[in-house]
Amino acid sequence: MMPIDHRGGTLYVEDVPAPAIADAVGTPAYVYSTAVMSDRYTAFADAFAGTGATICYALKANSNQAVIKTLADLGAGADVVSEGEMRRALAAGIPPDRIVFSGVGKTAGEMEAAIAAGIGQMNVESLPELETLSAVAARLGATVRTSVRVNPDVDARTHEKITTGKRENKFGVELHHAVDAFARAADLPGIDMRGVAVHIGSQLTDLAPFRQAFRKVADLVAELRRAGFTVDHLDLGGGLGVSYADDDPPPVADYAAMIREVLGPLNCQWTFEPGRALVAEAGIVLTRVLYVKPGETRTFVIVDAAMNDLLRPSLYDAHHMIQAVEDSGTLESQIVDIVGPVCETGDRLALSRALPPVAPGDLLAVRTAGAYGAVMASTYNSRLLVPEVLVRGGDVAVVRPRQTYDALLAQDRLPPWLEPINDRQRAAG
Ligand code: LLP
Repeated sequence: MMPIDHRGGTLYVEDVPAPAIADAVGTPAYVYSTAVMSDRYTAFADAFAGTGATICYALKANSNQAVIKTLADLGAGADVVSEGEMRRALAAGIPPDRIVFSGVGKTAGEMEAAIAAGIGQMNVESLPELETLSAVAARLGATVRTSVRVNPDVDARTHEKITTGKRENKFGVELHHAVDAFARAADLPGIDMRGVAVHIGSQLTDLAPFRQAFRKVADLVAELRRAGFTVDHLDLGGGLGVSYADDDPPPVADYAAMIREVLGPLNCQWTFEPGRALVAEAGIVLTRVLYVKPGETRTFVIVDAAMNDLLRPSLYDAHHMIQAVEDSGTLESQIVDIVGPVCETGDRLALSRALPPVAPGDLLAVRTAGAYGAVMASTYNSRLLVPEVLVRGGDVAVVRPRQTYDALLAQDRLPPWLEPINDRQRAAG
């Protein structure tokens, strides 16, 4: 039995009926299954068993501390791209030496925080960034294990907005500049340049672009070694896709076999940075139907979740399967647009989707929302950030409560030249 599936006509998350969660925390709400995360992490780790690889979960996919800790307890390290993510990883108990700090625009302040925390590896993406890292490290009297991220100019054949390894993308240094980066690093204080990092995009469903990129990395490592540099570490990024609809991502075992074949002979230590592959399928958004609005050309199902809660359909035209939580068993279906209450035409969760007849109050589940869901939420239209719930077997825990209107309003301050508008501000002023 799948951990998130219908049983007797009702959607369950592990041993908990989804309607019970909706009743307890309200909707919209994110719900995550521990079993799915654990299964995906274990599959990933097993595929690389015996290689000594470090699996650094990419926090950007879902940085709720309960999610991070669940993966950390299974042995995951972390890939972070900001001081905030670094703090979350540390707070969730990930040892600093199992944290990789990536990102194209780290500030000197973030570098300082990372060095002070003893972060295991910094990935730099340009010569100016390398110089800044060196200056910060030297000032702190530290030496930082560093990798240079290369841009292999490979088409990952994924959505244009999540492609990162083409020459025109902002990420990494061009392959032929990697030697310069190693040479420059050798002259700089505070830098122990040991590795090459690569990440060509997200939601890849084909091994070919990975293979192409890794072959280029293998050639580069050979060239660097011929030039006399030590390269003993490879950071191979994330990017392995999941199935949202009819996508057919390769099994992680095939991905691992390809990597062993292409990169095994180099005898490097490997780091992986999977995000989506570990958490996407573990999450759903529970949302309630507010209204059904039949129109001349289409029927709109207006639900209480919107683009501010789950941005992927609006931003990437992403497909998320949407199911009725209570399966009436009817074979009848209608083609509908499932849309949210936000005042934008782009606020839609699905267009022209077949759905069994639904009525106001019915619960729907938006599937495969564990990655790049809650983390990309905003309060647009002054809508509250929604709760996140973690399930483990029959246990349910709210791992982020719904934001309150008080908290939302308390973020704003009035400048001194405007009259206080309520008692709280009068008291604060
Ligand atoms: N490492 C680096 C350097 C990255 O830039 C990323 C993702 C990852 C690892 C993790 O990639 P994954 O295994 O999750 O594919 N918001 C978009 C996805 C953006 C991915 C950005 N970088 C979406 O919702 O599809």
